[in-house]
Amino acid sequence: MISKKINPIGIFDSGIGGLTVVRQITDLLPGESLIYFGDTARVPYGTKSDRIVREFAWEDSLFLLRQSVKMIVVACNTASAVALEELDRYLKVPVIGVIKPGARAAVNRTRNGRIGVIGTQATIDSGAYQTEIQRINPDYQVVSAACPLFVPLAEEGWVEGEVPELAARMYLSALLESDIDTLILGCTHYPLLKPLLSKIAGPSVSLIDSAEATALVVAETLSRRGLLDESRQGEYDFYVSDLPRKFEELGMRFLGRSIQVSIAEPWKATNPTYFTKSP
Ligand code: DGL
Repeated sequence: MISKKINPIGIFDSGIGGLTVVRQITDLLPGESLIYFGDTARVPYGTKSDRIVREFAWEDSLFLLRQSVKMIVVACNTASAVALEELDRYLKVPVIGVIKPGARAAVNRTRNGRIGVIGTQATIDSGAYQTEIQRINPDYQVVSAACPLFVPLAEEGWVEGEVPELAARMYLSALLESDIDTLILGCTHYPLLKPLLSKIAGPSVSLIDSAEATALVVAETLSRRGLLDESRQGEYDFYVSDLPRKFEELGMRFLGRSIQVSIAEPWKATNPTYFTKSP
């Protein structure tokens, strides 16, 4: 498999949420073509075991590699938290996750060294953000909270009003009591709740959107490897494993424009030639 400049970037997520990452990448790198896979048949990943999420992440990645992508972006925080290291070790193309860029952005932003992290149960249980932050600065304190209701709320478009506000107040209370000055939105869906979270966290807390930080790392990695494509307007292909029409509707909310979506079921085929060696 040869990585060429003109080959698309592959991005996968457990479903719709990774479109927040797509939006940041297309804004920053309009010349890049993208292939997106959203595993809508098997979402959520955030409530599943590491073993299952890793298996899904492999299948999603192999689907993208069959489309000759030059890079894989793991837009899903949960999959990044539990599968990134393994994917990066065995795949020939660069693999970028959302945890490291988000952690680094938070470390650069904090003034008092107290950082909050919110994410799915699996992401929080993995301790991935904490590990990454403390790898950069072991003295920094990290306080985390799983916020499982935020994903369905964001998918429903229920991002303001009494119900999401009550949930957010309850989820964030312990973090805010710990005097954090920086809060990582460690889940693809949470940027949609940003205005509400920012209101509850107050002006003294900076919100870190991992999607934004990830797009910068994608640009930097492509440029360093001579793979940046600025020759034309990029083209975008979207695939999901179920309910493509629903994805098209939600796509408007995440991307602010209409998209066309096809069905793909990556677990139905694998091709071992994409490995440098078997995992
Ligand atoms: N994409 C997931 C994440 O960022 C959220 C949805 C899910 O649980 O699958 O962690």
